[in-house]
Amino acid sequence: KNHFKKNTGSNVVQNKIPDEGGEGDGDKVDLAEQSLLNKLIRHSLVKNRNQVEVQQADPNSPLFSVKTFQELRLKPELLQGVFNMGFNRPSRIQENALPLMLAEPHQNLIAQSQSGTGKTAAFSLAMLSHVNPDNTWTQCLCVAPTYELALQIGQVIEQMGKFCPSVKLAYAIRGNRMDRRVKLQEHIVIGTPGTILDWCTKYKLIDPKKITMFVLDEADVMIAMQGHRDQSIRIHRLLNKNCQMLLFSATFEDSVMKFAERVIPDPNIIRLKREEETLDTIKQFYVLCREKEDKFTALCNLYGCLTIAQAMIFCHTRKMAGWLACSLIKEGHQVALLSGEMAVEQRAAVIERFKNGREKVLVTTNVCSRGIDVEQVSLVVNFDLPVDVEGNADNETYLHRIGRTGRFGRRGFAVNMVDSENSMEIIKQIEMHFSEISF
Ligand SMILES: *[C@@H]1O[C@H](CO)[C@@H](O)[C@H](O)[C@H]1NC(C)=O
Repeated sequence: KNHFKKNTGSNVVQNKIPDEGGEGDGDKVDLAEQSLLNKLIRHSLVKNRNQVEVQQADPNSPLFSVKTFQELRLKPELLQGVFNMGFNRPSRIQENALPLMLAEPHQNLIAQSQSGTGKTAAFSLAMLSHVNPDNTWTQCLCVAPTYELALQIGQVIEQMGKFCPSVKLAYAIRGNRMDRRVKLQEHIVIGTPGTILDWCTKYKLIDPKKITMFVLDEADVMIAMQGHRDQSIRIHRLLNKNCQMLLFSATFEDSVMKFAERVIPDPNIIRLKREEETLDTIKQFYVLCREKEDKFTALCNLYGCLTIAQAMIFCHTRKMAGWLACSLIKEGHQVALLSGEMAVEQRAAVIERFKNGREKVLVTTNVCSRGIDVEQVSLVVNFDLPVDVEGNADNETYLHRIGRTGRFGRRGFAVNMVDSENSMEIIKQIEMHFSEISF
């Protein structure tokens, strides 16, 4: 048993998808699914102590931010909808984004912040505020990567617009058949890029020249889907140059920024950086074992510790996770299994139960290692150490897995199962990695 050196932070690169390799039965992270899962399990805003960074299109214009929704001078029925949803004050990102989005003359915006910081509510509010219900044509277009994500946004708009019954919404999603060549009267259309493009060009349901607000949500997910990226650009080309353009993304890579700057002219840029995961408050150990069964025995010996608070156990493949969960259950332990073969809704239900403490131990693969905060987790077990396709130590995934414990200054523990010369080598690489970058 050994104690790792600790580090003081690292660059968290998101979206670099680790392939779980092996016999190909590992779970791949699907960005759109991950985003949906986050929306399904999120009940409150994420904690984030970073400062919002604002880069104005015109640095000489005054910078407005609001601390209350009342300051935005919304239509009373819209304000009522906002409060009815339980939003009392604007979130950090909304404080800056809302006055910009509602400004006259209009401003373009690129906003980047992680999931759960209030982006969807922000642009839903902007769209609802923007439309003139007396004009019976489509005025706002909102593009999302998938059918499910479009529905999620639609739900927010419907709830928020509950007291604005004259504002109508349509979903441009596959299978939603429309009368061709009869122009839509819905003020807001939300959908996936392919269907929106068809509705604008092939079926002529929407006159793109009459669109005055264009929202592109989850740009990072969108550009990871090649077809979507190109279709979004094609939709964008149909619009008037003076249409207000808003783009949202959960991540910050150069590829997203390049795309964003290509589609959004003269943008204001708002960023709320993710709180970095750190290993500072986490005690890390490894346990030497001989093979799988030996690791299992070691885990059973630890079991009493696992259930003091809550624990997550990571395996390399679905198969291993399935075996481990079954074996633990056979020993009489109550565990939950989260695996990529489950539908998103099923996964959300498992995480929900775990968050509520119905199960204390969650066995999973990498599908769960990103973006999902369960604050009660105080112990993470790497039943299999994280490795990339070439079998090298996957330092980033390690940080993501372990970073789930010890969040927001809590104390956490991590136990690594080392079962071969090879995995000893991997744990040494990880140790070296996190000691190297600490200075
Ligand atoms: C992780 O860090 C170690 C030590 O710095 C390095 O040898 C290894 O290549 C890194 N792994 C990957 C996948 O980059």
